[in-house]
Amino acid sequence: MQSTLPDDPELHVAIIMDGNGRWATRRGLPRTAGHRAGVAAVRRVVESAPSLGVTTLTLFAFSSDNWKRPAEEVEGLMWLLRAYLRTEARRLVESGARLSVIGRRDRLPARLRREIHRAEQATAGGRRLDQRVALDNSSRESIARAAAGLVDPPSPSSPEQLSQLISSALSNGSSGAEVDLLIRTGGEQRLSDFLLWECAYAELWFTDRMWPDFDADDLRVAIEEFHRRDRRFGAIGGAEPLTALPGRA
Ligand code: FPP
Repeated sequence: MQSTLPDDPELHVAIIMDGNGRWATRRGLPRTAGHRAGVAAVRRVVESAPSLGVTTLTLFAFSSDNWKRPAEEVEGLMWLLRAYLRTEARRLVESGARLSVIGRRDRLPARLRREIHRAEQATAGGRRLDQRVALDNSSRESIARAAAGLVDPPSPSSPEQLSQLISSALSNGSSGAEVDLLIRTGGEQRLSDFLLWECAYAELWFTDRMWPDFDADDLRVAIEEFHRRDRRFGAIGGAEPLTALPGRA
């Protein structure tokens, strides 16, 4: 099939990987089997993302609200995440991916924290893809913490400056705070406290596909649709921008 992708788009794609549990239940399997199949989908997407112009990929792996799930499922997820980091780090280095984890770490099991640290160190030189895994992540809490960190002097002098400072605190030194395309699988259409600030102008793309079934073709379809959208960021095409209304100081 002819590609309709521009040559060098440098996209930040964020994904809410939903539907693991339903995928498993429909097959008469425990929910954890869905999460395991979800890891394979993560691998497929990470491998195909750079060739589709994605330079930053943020994956929602565990929200702060997911602690409300049964202990057995939470423990299974923590185990899977640790296994993923342990087995995947070398492959990520070879493919030029830099992995980092965004979210709180203080409530994660110590063994997972150690594995995160190892994977981040091992992949720090990756330049082809910035792969961010959101773990124990709540966007509202991140925004509140970023804002709280700015309360002490130096206090920003304008709302624009404050907004810039919050953006940079949220991106935490990684490449793009701004999300270009947000994908959610599993048929639901909501943000679930994920990258609320960073998605201010994101294009949203929802699919009924359950996450374990998601593959490189689905990612391509979403990105091609993204390139067909007209992103105006509140402006209208062709008009000269005004910095202030006429007659106003
Ligand atoms: C949501 O599906 C998915 C999760 C809470 C976990 C996502 C985790 C993975 C895909 C595996 C590990 C990730 C990485 C980055 C290696 P759900 O369980 O809420 O599904 P449901 O809505 O069908 O119940």
